[in-house]
Amino acid sequence: MAIAMLHRIQHFLCLILVFLLPFSSLLFPSLGYNVPDKYFINCGSDSNVTVGDKVYVGESNPVARFSRSKTESNESQVPSPLYQTARIFRRESSYEFGIDTNGTYLVRLHFFSFTSRSNLYSARFNISVPGFWLVQKFDARNDTENNADPVKEFFMEITSPTFKIIFRPLPSSFAFVNAIELFLLPLNLISNNVSHFTFSGYMGLTSYRPGLYSRVLETKLRLNVGGQIVTGPDNLLRKWFPDDSYFANPENAKNRSPFMGRIEYHVGDDSDGPYANKFTAPSDVYRTAKEINSSSSSAGNITWALPVDYNTDHLLRLHFCDYWSPQIDHAYINLFIYDTYVMPVNIYDPEVSKELPAPYYFDFVVHSDDSGFMKVSIAPDASARIRDAFLNGLEIMKIIERSSSVPPYLDEPNSEHNRLPVVLGSVLIIFMMILGFLWRLKITKEKPTENSDWLPMLVTAGGSSQSRLTEGTSQGSALPNINLGLKIPLLDLQLATNNFHASQIIGKGSFGNVYKGVLQNGMTVAVKRGEPGSGEGLPEFHTEIVILSKIRHKHLVSLIGYCDENFEMILVYEYMEKGTLRDHLSNKNLPRLSWKNRLEICIGAASGLHYLHKGVDGGIIHRDVKSTNILLDENLVAKVADFGLSRTGPVDHQPYVTTVVKGTFGYLDPEYFKTQQLTEKSDVYSFGVVLLEVLCARAVIDPSLPRDQINLAEWGILCKNKGMLQDIVDPSIKDQIDQNSLRKFSETVEKSLQEDGSDRPTMDALLWDLEYALQIQRGVQDEDSSISVSASLQLPSVRRLPSLSTLSEVAEFAIVTGNESNCAADSVFSLLKIDDAR
Ligand SMILES: *[C@@H]1O[C@H](CO)[C@@H](O)[C@H](O)[C@H]1NC(C)=O
Ligand SMILES: *[C@@H]1O[C@H](CO)[C@@H](O)[C@H](O)[C@H]1NC(C)=O
Ligand SMILES: *[C@@H]1O[C@H](CO)[C@@H](O)[C@H](O)[C@H]1NC(C)=O
Ligand SMILES: *[C@@H]1O[C@H](CO)[C@@H](O)[C@H](O)[C@H]1NC(C)=O
Ligand SMILES: *[C@@H]1O[C@H](CO)[C@@H](O)[C@H](O)[C@H]1NC(C)=O
Ligand SMILES: *[C@@H]1O[C@H](CO)[C@@H](O)[C@H](O)[C@H]1NC(C)=O
Ligand SMILES: *[C@@H]1O[C@H](CO)[C@@H](O)[C@H](O)[C@H]1NC(C)=O
Ligand SMILES: *[C@@H]1O[C@H](CO)[C@@H](O)[C@H](O)[C@H]1NC(C)=O
Ligand SMILES: *[C@@H]1O[C@H](CO)[C@@H](O)[C@H](O)[C@H]1NC(C)=O
Repeated sequence: MAIAMLHRIQHFLCLILVFLLPFSSLLFPSLGYNVPDKYFINCGSDSNVTVGDKVYVGESNPVARFSRSKTESNESQVPSPLYQTARIFRRESSYEFGIDTNGTYLVRLHFFSFTSRSNLYSARFNISVPGFWLVQKFDARNDTENNADPVKEFFMEITSPTFKIIFRPLPSSFAFVNAIELFLLPLNLISNNVSHFTFSGYMGLTSYRPGLYSRVLETKLRLNVGGQIVTGPDNLLRKWFPDDSYFANPENAKNRSPFMGRIEYHVGDDSDGPYANKFTAPSDVYRTAKEINSSSSSAGNITWALPVDYNTDHLLRLHFCDYWSPQIDHAYINLFIYDTYVMPVNIYDPEVSKELPAPYYFDFVVHSDDSGFMKVSIAPDASARIRDAFLNGLEIMKIIERSSSVPPYLDEPNSEHNRLPVVLGSVLIIFMMILGFLWRLKITKEKPTENSDWLPMLVTAGGSSQSRLTEGTSQGSALPNINLGLKIPLLDLQLATNNFHASQIIGKGSFGNVYKGVLQNGMTVAVKRGEPGSGEGLPEFHTEIVILSKIRHKHLVSLIGYCDENFEMILVYEYMEKGTLRDHLSNKNLPRLSWKNRLEICIGAASGLHYLHKGVDGGIIHRDVKSTNILLDENLVAKVADFGLSRTGPVDHQPYVTTVVKGTFGYLDPEYFKTQQLTEKSDVYSFGVVLLEVLCARAVIDPSLPRDQINLAEWGILCKNKGMLQDIVDPSIKDQIDQNSLRKFSETVEKSLQEDGSDRPTMDALLWDLEYALQIQRGVQDEDSSISVSASLQLPSVRRLPSLSTLSEVAEFAIVTGNESNCAADSVFSLLKIDDAR
């Protein structure tokens, strides 16, 4: 009965809503945003504002309109156009954000009290997020008088689909905000597992339990020690201030002259340091330092006294980068916190040979005392070869604990008074979404490629993560037009790969990991993601996209899209169900490929390579043809991968002279190795090795075999010459292989492996030979056995390939061990060679 009643009421409410729709914005002052989750918002304004290269979008959005809450503005001189407007809340209100991806987020709130009718200086308020007080009893006067940065910055883990920031004015006052930033941070910027400093010193370092991710961090200080203010988009929009006003003994320290060179960031995922990657801190922070003033007689140490909250846990992060010592182990520094010896700051680790200048950092949780200052000192160790101590950067973040005193917000059941608007609000949102959906359907029907950005909740998005993919890549496996509009929002890729979760990794290479992902349109893709820190190759990355997007062929793996957002370099390829050709040759758990299958695969790959050489514009040399770069789709159709990372040949077909030989052992053309001249025939040689591999199903380099058998190319030719090729054919196909087909095939192999490139066939000719071998196998055509190929052949003198012992002389050589357990690593997408050699 009661339930029926409730239903009727709901029904009635819905009806009312339809009529109220046009006025809805007047009714729900605090419904908040519901925009995609990369948010930069210019509060209190309808217009976008660009600061640096970041667009802070205005609130001109029907869903987000805060009609009952005022805005104020003053066009006069303020430090940033963001600070010309503010939204003012006279009662409890919130901004609400939709969150697609679990992870660590940065929340930045801007409070600048410009002169206006409301007198923003008199604002007093709290701010909370679920479970935590971010700001308590905010008093704008304090910040303005101290000339402090009008920004509050927080780090927190968000794992709920919506996230609310709640403004709570103190009695008879109000709250305001000029701008809000909320974005997902790169992985591992902050480690969950941090050492806990206690006064028993070094031995007292234990893990801080239960870890930082269960807390919120608030930035208190971020110092570029020995340098100037550092800002800018390359550094997650963080601001680093000079440290000069924080010395306890200023005469003991002096600025080290700045370093102009390149900082050698760590490339890798391991978050626990000590080596810094490019997100840890920008180069400009590591390029300056404070060091001991050797002309000061008392200079035993440098001590900073850093203002902190009383008796509170803080995260202290110290950044070091020794850019003047000749060796990494020359400067030994001792670190003290509150005059207590903590540890030697010495990252010498024979296991990790690092190039200098390698930046590194240490994190500690330190409980502050009741002085209001945290004392941090560095002093040279008496045993050091260079008696110096230095520091490049310092960060202090207050650790905010979960608090049970944070009251639930409006929409919680115990807040009867406020319940109705929220219920109405939710219904309204759903209603509008349905309307929107219907309208969108209609639009899609009429104009399939139009971006449906009309949806109010998408209008203010910094980057619309929901609408983008439907534009270009929704046609499933039929690939969309490839063009430079293939940019995919980072968040879509994070979603697709479960935020680059380790379980999604299908390959690993020098460039980074390859993840399997499913885009929102259901398409399965391979996502190759550059490591943070390997990011010097942005122009090359762009070149790759330009080249890749021009190439399309049935037997070449296609580029689906790319992402260069947020300092990322990501390429997205079509996913190849059956993995690499090598897997199918070497993995005993997979069904054996028949000889006919193998020929078809070789033909597919050859036609892909032929297209690279002769198709599109001017010819492209693959440079890394091998069985792990030949992928198979669900129907065992072969596609060549990693081709876009090869060389584009000049139009006049002059050979290339490269300074660095690139390739993979076992497949590498000896002529190219010797002359460093790269031609299409180098690909032909490598492909010849692949053909042998297909025939014999063994590793191209197998050090466990007798010397003359280690290298498959050498061994294969040797056997061929002795008429023993039959003996090394993969036993699983021995019985099915037609002798004439084998003869034709081995003849092709032999031609491809000629020492002199000009004696090798073109891909075109090779393709024809393989087709012929397939025809024979199919029995469609009988080979004229009077042409006895094997008898008439010259024995090629195969040059010895560089043996493993000469490895060290070969700069930057890509070595692939052929270790079965590395197969995934070796897979198609593994080596995105965006490196300085290119
Ligand atoms: C804008 O600010 C200037 C000085 O900062 C002040 O003189 C002026 O009255 C302000 N305008 C309004 C409308 O408050
Ligand atoms: C702001 O200043 C007032 C008075 O000067 C002081 O009582 C209050 O504690 C200060 N608040 C903060 C957050 O520093
Ligand atoms: C995010 O975290 C929540 C809580 O831990 C979990 O329930 C949810 O499945 C996670 N979502 C994703 C996409 O991982
Ligand atoms: C603001 O925070 C203070 C300190 O926690 C608390 O006592 C007060 O009740 C809060 N006021 C509001 C309106 O949330
Ligand atoms: C945390 O880090 C310490 C050293 O920094 C290490 O000994 C410990 O095993 C780590 N604990 C976990 C749970 O990762
Ligand atoms: C270094 O110490 C000398 C002697 O005490 C002092 O004169 C000089 O100012 C100091 N240098 C700096 C940069 O503080
Ligand atoms: C640093 O030097 C001062 C004297 O300049 C001394 O009082 C203090 O104890 C020293 N601190 C440490 C940690 O060595
Ligand atoms: C504001 O920025 C958003 C997102 O970049 C964009 O979609 C919108 O068109 C911009 N609005 C105006 C008025 O420029
Ligand atoms: C091959 O991989 C396995 C497992 O990772 C490893 O134990 C072994 O040492 C590797 N062998 C070579 C030659 O790299």
